[in-house]
Amino acid sequence: MASCWANYLDACATTPPAPEVLEAMAAVHAGAWANPSSLHGFGLAAAEQLERCRQRIGELLGCASHQVLFTSGGSESIHTALLGVAAALPAGRLLISAVEHPATLAASKQLQSRGWQVERLPVDGLGLVDQQLLEQLLVPPTRLVSLIWGQSEVGTVQPLQAIGRKCRAAGVLLHVDAVQVIGHQQLNFNALPVDLLSLAGHKLQGPRGIGALLLRPDLQLSPLIGGGGQEAGRRGGTEPVALVAGLTRALELCTDRLVAHGGSDPVGPLRNALLEQLLQLGGVSLSGPDPRDLEAPERLPHHLSLLLAGPDGQPISGRRLVRNLWQQGYAVGSGSACSSGQAASPAGLTPSPILLAMGYTSAVAASGLRFSLGPWHRATDLTGVGAALERARQPSPPRVI
Ligand SMILES: Cc1ncc(COP(=O)(O)O)c(C=O)c1O
Repeated sequence: MASCWANYLDACATTPPAPEVLEAMAAVHAGAWANPSSLHGFGLAAAEQLERCRQRIGELLGCASHQVLFTSGGSESIHTALLGVAAALPAGRLLISAVEHPATLAASKQLQSRGWQVERLPVDGLGLVDQQLLEQLLVPPTRLVSLIWGQSEVGTVQPLQAIGRKCRAAGVLLHVDAVQVIGHQQLNFNALPVDLLSLAGHKLQGPRGIGALLLRPDLQLSPLIGGGGQEAGRRGGTEPVALVAGLTRALELCTDRLVAHGGSDPVGPLRNALLEQLLQLGGVSLSGPDPRDLEAPERLPHHLSLLLAGPDGQPISGRRLVRNLWQQGYAVGSGSACSSGQAASPAGLTPSPILLAMGYTSAVAASGLRFSLGPWHRATDLTGVGAALERARQPSPPRVI
């Protein structure tokens, strides 16, 4: 039987919470609802639950429990990493790529107002960062690098080992935005040449409103939010123990799935079959690395991004296609969820800054469409996507089914 999320193809925006996650959260809401800072038995039960989860997440992600700092999600983790680390350093230079998530751009802007210089590293046509330039810039005053590991809009996975080794050799701190990667590959944080790593629960069938920042144990970090000294003084506020339990359960489910499939995400072959299906339509091309090409850079396994043209060869608005596909019951995305709510230009076109950075023209950069899959998908769920896309491209409104 098809799952009720069979037509939900927007996993990079967010994912439906897994039933096991809801169950784990319900149990904690009922049994460990108290304030973990309270000294009575109710509080101690909540504190024990919280620390058990922290320990388990450390085991699953390859670090000690005290290296796990809970936040509200990806954006807060990124802000905490960049602003928190920078506060303990003299102002210097921050390097980011030209294809970062808006949360990184926002945090970078705040650093600029505190006297930091921010440099954006260009990317090539597949979204890969220019490593030569990176290496040249890994000299004073560069003190910090922040890099999106798996790009949410075009799926490019940056070669983290190589980049991390360069940063380590230069003595420059590296923060990684792993929001789209965690859950799709196993992580051994302490074995990576990385100092800080951000993740969000809602991208991996966990609850919304919870994320984590993993950090090297000796790293100094100023809290973004002060208060009662929670999270070892690194984030004030009563800890959401049930959300933490949900995140823990979600990470366990992802890890079990990856282990059962030899370390790779079983959704990869489904994504490849969907790519083959859609490339058979005219006027469809892939953006980002080609997962069928073994020589190509790595791509997120659940991610497919396309550029669409009409019968006249002219690019079609990706946003229009998203709406037309939804009229046929398919939920897809046209870019980063956080920016796709923004107003379109008067012509109805909103060029994606990510595609522009990869060298596409404005018109083509407005024609992006993203399909992102999850463990709830079966091959049969995807067989009608090509026909729906073809209907969505027709000038007349598609028939509602
Ligand atoms: C790569 C990346 N980084 C950061 C974020 C922000 O995460 P959150 O929505 O949990 O704040 C997202 C969410 O779309 C993302 O895809």
